[in-house]
Amino acid sequence: MNSDTILTQTPEKGSLRFVILVSLVAALGGFLFGFDTSVMSGANGYLRLRFGLGDAMLGWTVSCIIIGCIAGAAFAGMMGNRYGRKRVLIVSALLYIIGIGGSALAGGLVPFIALRMLEGVAIGINCSLCPMYNAEIAPAKYRGRLVAMTQMATVTAILSGMLLSYFIAGAGNEAWNITSGWRFMFGAGVVPGTLFLILLFFVPESPRWLIQKGRAEEALPILLRIHGNTAARQEVLDIKRSFAEETKLSFGEAARQLMKGKTRKILVIGTIVAMTQQITGINAVMYYAPEIFRQTGSGTSGSLLQTLLVGVVNVVFTALSLWLVDKLGRKLLLLIGSGVMTVSLLLIGVSFELGQTGGVVIIVCILAYVAAFAVSLGAVVWVLLAEMFPNRIRGVATAIANMALWAMNFVVSQSFPSLLSSIGPGKTFWIYGAAALFTFLFTMSQVPETKGKSLEEIEAMWEKNHASLADERGFAPSLQEN
Ligand code: GLC
Repeated sequence: MNSDTILTQTPEKGSLRFVILVSLVAALGGFLFGFDTSVMSGANGYLRLRFGLGDAMLGWTVSCIIIGCIAGAAFAGMMGNRYGRKRVLIVSALLYIIGIGGSALAGGLVPFIALRMLEGVAIGINCSLCPMYNAEIAPAKYRGRLVAMTQMATVTAILSGMLLSYFIAGAGNEAWNITSGWRFMFGAGVVPGTLFLILLFFVPESPRWLIQKGRAEEALPILLRIHGNTAARQEVLDIKRSFAEETKLSFGEAARQLMKGKTRKILVIGTIVAMTQQITGINAVMYYAPEIFRQTGSGTSGSLLQTLLVGVVNVVFTALSLWLVDKLGRKLLLLIGSGVMTVSLLLIGVSFELGQTGGVVIIVCILAYVAAFAVSLGAVVWVLLAEMFPNRIRGVATAIANMALWAMNFVVSQSFPSLLSSIGPGKTFWIYGAAALFTFLFTMSQVPETKGKSLEEIEAMWEKNHASLADERGFAPSLQEN
């Protein structure tokens, strides 16, 4: 069928159902990440006994995956640019299956850690490319919501992983859990991994990537299904224009451009936004919730129940975020969320410092903190990272920002246990509170609103901001200046 025939046969309005289905598949990448996070917190007690691990070795066994994630995030953008989003995601799904399936069968600690790192590479790739793919496929009006589906999948997986570990652990006695139970927990990850792999064969390649590679004729039918007739042709023109400057640049030149003026500013803002998601302490709660609740005097079963409550609150408020992100916008959600997080963290710290650990205040504040995170930083940061960078630097810039995010995840999850024992929980939560206050102020002064704009309009908005900034300083740069 030639493009004229396609144009006459395509309705004016695109198919939202098609876009949702495609985005759901890519969101499954987020599911794989969340699943591992929670299964590990359920399994680590048994791993400690199975492999005879001390505190430090247990810390490494848990967080070695993040080293893989950093590596995955580093190469995802570059590989995605060279081979296409879809092909790289297929490879990543395979790596995930080998990593998590292999670690479930591992006979010793060394292969277990090596396979977890491999799995981390896959997760790092998924967490960069899935939101990017969703952003590139989504119509502007629903983009926030569709990209945030990756986070929705992540938190759903965190909750399912919590439940799964709970049921598997309950299915046998302690000895069985130490020898075999944890293997089933990890092994279960092969199921969503395989589903992801199979479904990826049925989704189209990112039309923006196809146009960048000069394959507009393959992109057009996809854009027609997404946007309908007239809007699709406009999209092709806009996307082509946004790539026009860059196609003449070599990779080295593009990297150098990234370090100059306007582009550097966008990169710095994006990288700080990425870091705020982690330095505000969410994974101290995600990875160590039972431990925190035990410090408030809860028994083992009480702390497990409270941990499940954290999982449920996380899911409910992420769903709320999906609903709000395209209505209220990214910036307002970030401001509300970081504001509430600052207050809750401050109160958690005060309660611990005053020794008021028995009451409900801490638990309520932790739940308020998780809710505020879920409605704001949890989903919105992934949305911003997927949409805020100009088309021509998206791959490299997303890689740098994502690596910073993973590095901060590593710092927080590694340092939390030692902070607890050195300065105590009160001051530890104050540190995260200070980071939340910083997030609020930074968002207010630096983060632009991107709601409802096409990726190309966002790019134009940065150009305009830069030009007006330069005007204030008394010189007006050309649009080509970076
Ligand atoms: C986001 C964060 C992740 C965290 C999760 C909690 O996805 O990137 O580190 O565990 O939210 O919901």
